[in-house]
Amino acid sequence: MTTARPQSLPWPYEAKEGWLYCQGVRLADIARQWGTPCYVYSEAAILEAYATLARPDPEGRSARICFAVKANSNLAVLRILARAGAGFDIVSAGELRRVLAAGGHPERVVFSGVGKSIHELRYALEQGIGCINVESLAELDQLASVASSLKRIAPISIRVNPDIDAQTHPYISTGLKENKFGLGIQDALEGYKRALKNRHLRVVGVDCHIGSQITTLKPFQDATQRLLLFATDLHGLGIELEHIDLGGGLGICYHDEQPPSADELKNQGLQMVANWAQSTGCKEPQVVFEMGRSIVGAAGLLLSQVLLLKPSSDPEAKHFAVVDAAMNDLMRPSLYQAWHDLMLLHPSQPKAELRRWDVVGPVCETGDWLARDRSLGLFEGDLLAFASAGAYGSTMGSNYNSRPRPPEVLLRESGQVDLIRRRETFEDLIELEKIPRDLWD
Ligand code: LLP
Repeated sequence: MTTARPQSLPWPYEAKEGWLYCQGVRLADIARQWGTPCYVYSEAAILEAYATLARPDPEGRSARICFAVKANSNLAVLRILARAGAGFDIVSAGELRRVLAAGGHPERVVFSGVGKSIHELRYALEQGIGCINVESLAELDQLASVASSLKRIAPISIRVNPDIDAQTHPYISTGLKENKFGLGIQDALEGYKRALKNRHLRVVGVDCHIGSQITTLKPFQDATQRLLLFATDLHGLGIELEHIDLGGGLGICYHDEQPPSADELKNQGLQMVANWAQSTGCKEPQVVFEMGRSIVGAAGLLLSQVLLLKPSSDPEAKHFAVVDAAMNDLMRPSLYQAWHDLMLLHPSQPKAELRRWDVVGPVCETGDWLARDRSLGLFEGDLLAFASAGAYGSTMGSNYNSRPRPPEVLLRESGQVDLIRRRETFEDLIELEKIPRDLWD
């Protein structure tokens, strides 16, 4: 059984006399103004998380941070990060267009993904992308021919699959040989040899990404070690790497996880790469990280309201609190059995009886739950927040059950409150659809 209040609210969210605030703004007021469900993000929290990763280590070395756009692709969020100097990790032409629309620099973008279309490769090259992280030999060949047709030279890195167990949920583990991502060491070596022979390809780096929500340093250390051994082989081929991209994946605390700090992870990577360069005599490559969750995860909340309560008189049965947010708004619990802390936005009403509630949405799926077995004192109409919903929340949303997507609100460092995505309307939902005229006959 769990308590109503989380152990600690991520900064700069705080509870004062039972009310939740973010830098002087009362979140219940946000919920009333913009309605629920509603995502809110703290600009200060995003900037702080980015700055921690971007600042130099004790030796004065720093990594290039490419924000993984899939974690939160709202244009205002991308703009905040672009303005802070971030690069971006993208997986589609759509994400690249978002980065460009937010004023991001294409040369600071790395393009990951196991299935890029010819159209996407062409678009990325035309825009002057910084690096294409190639994930198969077939992609390497396709890219070479697209580059040749454009009379351009494609900057590439090959994503190595280091066969390391990231010890995370199987759906978000990517660095095992049974996963579809990247190339095994032997195939990657073949890829680099091929690239060297092709004048339309320019090797600029090597990369890996072993998974997401990783909560210990060891898998990162093992993957970096593998990558560096491989970099020594590349050196033997005459390749001088401009960068070494250690991927993303740093976990955050949703419940009781104790992930390493961003500083620990960054310093470990920088140190290992520096030691490698020193011991091999290679030029020290720029270290790149592709972090998503650790930059925006704790900065966001999903606000919701209790629609009704369904306590059961059967002692064996569950008590359900039905809220107005659902799996289509926040899919992580349904998909990964993920935990999001849950808290009231206002003081608990004096007569609220504590019960163990399953907090569920209105969607017609048994899997539509957001929190299970939480001890809360609830009444209809209570306002709630699901914590740490800034990453893979809104971006994984859908319109299932013809539910309009929620708005997104940005709490600015200045105290200003900005609507950065309006709530969808019914008209938005049907905009792309058409009934053929004869169906009315
Ligand atoms: N780079 C690549 C190539 C990736 O595939 C990912 C995430 C990242 C970087 C960023 O990883 P992060 O730092 O955010 O862990 N929907 C899941 C997470 C899927 C992650 C997919 N790839 C979730 O909600 O937990």
